[in-house]
Amino acid sequence: MKFFIDTANLEQIKEAQALGILDGVTTNPSLMAKEGITGEVNIINHYKEICELVEGDVSAEVISTDFDGMVKEGEALAALNPQIVVKLPMIKDGVKACKYFSSKGIKTNVTLVFSAGQALLAAKAGATYVSPFIGRLDDISTDGMNLIKEIRLIYDNYGFETQILAASVRNTMHIINCAKLGSDVMTGPLSAIEGLLKHPLTDSGLATFLADYKKGN
Ligand code: E4P
Repeated sequence: MKFFIDTANLEQIKEAQALGILDGVTTNPSLMAKEGITGEVNIINHYKEICELVEGDVSAEVISTDFDGMVKEGEALAALNPQIVVKLPMIKDGVKACKYFSSKGIKTNVTLVFSAGQALLAAKAGATYVSPFIGRLDDISTDGMNLIKEIRLIYDNYGFETQILAASVRNTMHIINCAKLGSDVMTGPLSAIEGLLKHPLTDSGLATFLADYKKGN
């Protein structure tokens, strides 16, 4: 399973990169705003900086909601760096734009996916990635993980190559469950990724090993 970090925070991206397990980055307009990155020029420069920090795919989201606008924006984003993946919303024009980009060999990430039907459409349109938002489904008392299961089944039934990018990952168990269900990628915060490291028996075991070593020296 690929690990993407879901942030526009450069320090956190560097930290995840330093761990040696990072395969890419996802951003969205809210994550950019959270870091105080506003205005077209600053946003573009920020994408460029992120691409310099990591080797993998970097999702950059369009703001337009009409086909022509999405194509114009997406082409400009894709021209920034081959790592850029054009992130498109799951709306009618987003699906059309996805088909347009995939037929041109430009990578896409169809975002704001909350149903298996939406994921099926994204795959039909040739999306590179589909982003089911599991945390936001959990927020409304719907089983986000079940959506991953359904999409996996559908994609495997037909051999769709679109990668399931589990998004809106909020905690470590989300990551583990996504891995169990065969999600191709997960994107989550650094805290959820670092949570995978932790076990109290690791800490106490290491403390004992170090104490015993000292006794013999
Ligand atoms: C996906 O690409 C989104 O950026 C993100 O995962 C949304 O997560 P949230 O529901 O925690 O805002």
